[in-house]
Amino acid sequence: MTPSPTIIPIPVSCRFTGGAPFPLTAKTVIATGGDPTLAGTAAQLAKLLDVRVAETAQAGGNVISLVVDSTLTGRLGPEGYTLTVTASGVEIRGGGAAGVFYGTQSLRQLLPPDIERFGRRADGGGLTVAALEIEDRPRFTWRGSLLDVSRHFSPVAEVKKYIATLALHKLNVFQWHLVDDQGWRIQIKKYPRLTSVGAWRETTIRVGNEGEYDGVPHGGFYTQDEIREVVAFAAERFVTVVPEIELPGHSSAALAAYPKLGNTDAPGYAPKVQSKWAIFPETYSPKPETLAFLDDVLTEVLGLFPSTFIHIGGDEAMKQQWESSPTARAVMAENRLKDGHELQSWFIRRTENFLAQRGRRLIGWDEIQEGGLAPGAAMMAWRDVKWAIEAARLGHDVVMAPTSHTYFDYTEGTAEEEGGTIGAQTTLEKVYSFDPTAGVEPMHHARVLGAQGQLWRERMPSLAVVEFRAFPRLSALAEVVWSPLERKNFDDFRVRLRVLLARFDRLGVNYRRPRDSTTPPANPMSPPHGT
Ligand code: ACM
Repeated sequence: MTPSPTIIPIPVSCRFTGGAPFPLTAKTVIATGGDPTLAGTAAQLAKLLDVRVAETAQAGGNVISLVVDSTLTGRLGPEGYTLTVTASGVEIRGGGAAGVFYGTQSLRQLLPPDIERFGRRADGGGLTVAALEIEDRPRFTWRGSLLDVSRHFSPVAEVKKYIATLALHKLNVFQWHLVDDQGWRIQIKKYPRLTSVGAWRETTIRVGNEGEYDGVPHGGFYTQDEIREVVAFAAERFVTVVPEIELPGHSSAALAAYPKLGNTDAPGYAPKVQSKWAIFPETYSPKPETLAFLDDVLTEVLGLFPSTFIHIGGDEAMKQQWESSPTARAVMAENRLKDGHELQSWFIRRTENFLAQRGRRLIGWDEIQEGGLAPGAAMMAWRDVKWAIEAARLGHDVVMAPTSHTYFDYTEGTAEEEGGTIGAQTTLEKVYSFDPTAGVEPMHHARVLGAQGQLWRERMPSLAVVEFRAFPRLSALAEVVWSPLERKNFDDFRVRLRVLLARFDRLGVNYRRPRDSTTPPANPMSPPHGT
């Protein structure tokens, strides 16, 4: 067997040519031919390696050249690339600018982890890259991770750090879970109370000690300028930020800010920003002023996020308030909706139409399928992949995000090892074994856009705990969504993983030591890199 390069996810093909290696020196320059679409990638690589960028490079120089090569696009797609290393130069050719970026991430992973701290001076200088030829392209276009910032908030710097770590793995979708019962986290200029009231809760239920509260107010939100900053930071790393604006359920925080938008005539209606983890009865009322509010919110959201897909949640909407609200019942009668499930679908169809008219596409959790899926809607399966298999059969695009393999709030170790657990133990090997098209008929495989790893933060107060849960399981998922099935090999992955974990050490990215390590896993609540 040929040795694998120290790259995660493993490339489609890699051949060590046996030639003399490329020396990385003070004379090395990065050349882009002045292509403006490569300026950000070149600047990031120059910073990492501590070398210069030049528009044109001298012949015979020690050059890393970056090129968008449209003749490759047909074969490798815009995200594919070739990476050729010889003694005289490194050449990265991408089918598009994204491909060139991914080529630089592969080059990065071919260099020792110490470059993350010392650039080309790592290991006392004298760094070389083995002569090789790589050809690579992703298996799926949606290679995602969700970060919940409602249950616990992360400031912009933490969000950027998380996105940068996704990009190292060639993951390209960051689903930003900005809205939930426990906090509304995005500034909406027309509705200031969403953040002045909805972004703050008085107290939080204690982890592992349900029934007790910490008495500490928790909150925070992103201004629109901060949102733009994060979107731009992600774009430089070819990560699309997909905002998630939950409706019609998971809306307690919004309704605490604007109670009149809820089912005010349902018995017991009393919205508040929630401080415990549960599913709550609050839903938006289907009345005109609430619909206008949702349209206004989405209009501001569309102005901030260029993503084609907008995630509207759609999960776990309880139907009881609608069924006991005369206002909601009148809307149901008027629109010939027989129950709350049909009203939920009516909300989703309306929103799908709103987005489609503005050139966007709706994606939502699998409950949006109950009562009929809107024609252009895409679906993210979380409860069971069977929902996605069904939706794909009906002609909808789907993303696989099932609790069985991709919920990283479920612990990697046993309950004893991790001081309690929720959900089933989800080991690294289990995540690695996931195949997003398993069970989908071959004729519908193209409907599977990809897969996504979820970081729900009920039990993750800090980014260090998020990273402990995310890594290296998200590293395994990166290989699931990027690498061809026939290239996957868990034993080989574990060998390559050692190098990636050393890189995490240099980057200050926390992670859970694999179960086969001689060192026991750190306690997730007191992570080695602090909180
Ligand atoms: C979900 O976990 N409720 C999507």
